[in-house]
Amino acid sequence: MIFEGTYPEILKDGKSLTGKYLSGHYRIEPPAHVRKWKRSIQLEGCRQNNLKNVDVEFPLGVFTVVSGVSGSGKTTLVKQILYPALMKLKGSSPTVWANIAS
Ligand SMILES: Nc1ncnc2c1ncn2[C@@H]1O[C@H](COP(=O)(O)OP(=O)(O)O)[C@@H](O)[C@H]1O
Ligand SMILES: [Mg+2]
Repeated sequence: MIFEGTYPEILKDGKSLTGKYLSGHYRIEPPAHVRKWKRSIQLEGCRQNNLKNVDVEFPLGVFTVVSGVSGSGKTTLVKQILYPALMKLKGSSPTVWANIAS
């Protein structure tokens, strides 16, 4: 355990790396250029575990990352919604999966 306390307290805590990012003292700049993409997969009204009616678009043919705080539903979204939806739509044929990626 690195820190225990309230939100205003973590913002002022000198030792907490999380606090430094939350206060804006540290920043991670997004890349200046992102690879262009054309095709994507759109999921609408995702509801599972704590996901409540989430709409999301996954670009295809580019490296894509799902990020968010622990427990926000990243694994649920990818493993319980995206993956089963693709399996239902496309089956498990490697050829069809290659077509999705290209
Ligand atoms: N199989 C499950 N049954 C019930 N609740 C679950 C299950 N899997 C995850 N959860 C809950 O759903 C929420 C999102 O979890 P999860 O998708 O693992 O988030 P993340 O991957 O972003 O950390 C959490 O509150 C977690 O406890
Ligand atoms: Mg997870």
